[in-house]
Amino acid sequence: EPEIIRDKDQMRKWSRAMRSQGKTIGLVPTMGYLHAGHVSLIREAHNHSDVIVVSIYVNPGQFSPSEDLSTYPSDFHGDIQKLRAVPGGVDVVFNPHNLYDYGTNPNCTNTSTSTSNGEEMKLESCVEEKGLGHETWVRVVRLEKGMCGKSRPVFFRGVATVVTKLFNIVEPDVALFGKKDYQQWRIIQRMVRDLDFSIRVIGSEVVRESDGLAMSSRNVRLSPEEREKALSINKSLSRARFSAEKGQISCKELIDLVIQAINEAGGRVDYAEIIDQDSLETVEEIRSPVVFCVAAWFGKVRLIDNMEISV
Ligand code: PAJ
Repeated sequence: EPEIIRDKDQMRKWSRAMRSQGKTIGLVPTMGYLHAGHVSLIREAHNHSDVIVVSIYVNPGQFSPSEDLSTYPSDFHGDIQKLRAVPGGVDVVFNPHNLYDYGTNPNCTNTSTSTSNGEEMKLESCVEEKGLGHETWVRVVRLEKGMCGKSRPVFFRGVATVVTKLFNIVEPDVALFGKKDYQQWRIIQRMVRDLDFSIRVIGSEVVRESDGLAMSSRNVRLSPEEREKALSINKSLSRARFSAEKGQISCKELIDLVIQAINEAGGRVDYAEIIDQDSLETVEEIRSPVVFCVAAWFGKVRLIDNMEISV
């Protein structure tokens, strides 16, 4: 039975007690509404650490005012049920009410992630317009620019900042991230290296539904028709990989194939890019291991997926 901790000081105390017993700590950060992708990170964590902390926190700092913070799905009790069933178990669920300090300020009362009027003042505007509370941000300047950073300009600084806070509160030895969010994984890896966190960052493979759709908490917001259309992402990425393996090294050709397939299915492509796995810069021809990253809209839902290609 996982212990539920909501207070940061109590969380840190727990971790320090474990460390003093010689135990290593693994952290799996999540925003909840857990699925098999999250569970695979927890199983992987068991290979690298003695005790496991899963954090569940929908971080307002990584949503812009026009994004889906208020409709982000949540089911805390369902999440706990799922965590109970994970082989090897979970030691702690860290579920802070609010990780930022301005909660009691009367000018910033609507930042709670449970409000759903769509008008809530986000961390962002709260900080910058009122100059209150939290004002420190972690930015991974080059890596946060491309792909998801283009259409979601505040997203990665919100992620890097909240992950820094979680690292400082939980003090893990190892932290696990899914390669489904490839850019996010690499940004955290880079941040840990640049800022000398003494934490090992491990990337875990993408977990898919049996029909190939990458698991995501947002999938529940797809209608059955949209869900069917969304299969075009994985299908076209697989076709692109097959084509690359057969000798097509032109990225333009491969990208056109994917964009066309998603458009024809009725999706709207946000970006489709082929990047080098080391530099994360876009490439024109596949001559080294690359990853083909895609984001696309189906109705009101934006999905991301990617595929590693080594020829
Ligand atoms: P969330 O979307 O809940 O994802 C939590 C972790 O699960 C991330 O590392 C993500 O990459 C991983 N994950 C999600 N779907 C996956 C899949 N189908 N296969 C493998 N791994 C998958 O990512 C976030 O939350 C947040 O940005 C967070 C890192 C918690 C910071 O707020």
